[in-house]
Amino acid sequence: MAIETKTSNSIAADSKLRELFIDQLQDIYWAERKLVKALGKMLDAATTAPLREAFRKHQDETRNHVTRLEQVFESIGEKADTTKCPAMAGIIDEANDIIDETDASSSQRDAGLIIAAQKAEHYEIATYGSLAQLAEIMGYIEAKNLLGTTLDEEKATDEHLSQIAKSGINYNAVLEKEDDKNDVL
Ligand SMILES: [Fe+2]
Ligand SMILES: [Fe+2]
Repeated sequence: MAIETKTSNSIAADSKLRELFIDQLQDIYWAERKLVKALGKMLDAATTAPLREAFRKHQDETRNHVTRLEQVFESIGEKADTTKCPAMAGIIDEANDIIDETDASSSQRDAGLIIAAQKAEHYEIATYGSLAQLAEIMGYIEAKNLLGTTLDEEKATDEHLSQIAKSGINYNAVLEKEDDKNDVL
């Protein structure tokens, strides 16, 4: 493809695309660091063991996502830095609202936490998919592979959360009445 013959690190070095790439890396680096903390809060708030376990596992993976982004910055000769990601800040605010507005030990709480977590995963999937593409077009192969590894983990987490929701949480939540307090069905 003609476009591939034009790509190289030397061309990418001062390109507008590299500037955009770094800006987006800083955005997701901020988001991942916030998510480590947010997932800990969601883990503590979750009702059922499978969801707590899913959040615990993904919190560990998210710590690796932070490290992997630092490796991406290093691989392109940039210092790891953050810029606030308003989108992820909003998604985390929503998760906190769900915790505030649902009863502890309810299936409604878990159903809400899964929605919030999947919103975060979908944002990450969009970001990592795009960044892996940009890395490839600029010839940043190491960065592309690192970003692709994280992308696969985000997709697997999203799938796993869907399975947990379908395996009983959503059904139990639909049986809970509005005036039920702290019932686990
Ligand atoms: Fe992540
Ligand atoms: Fe994630």
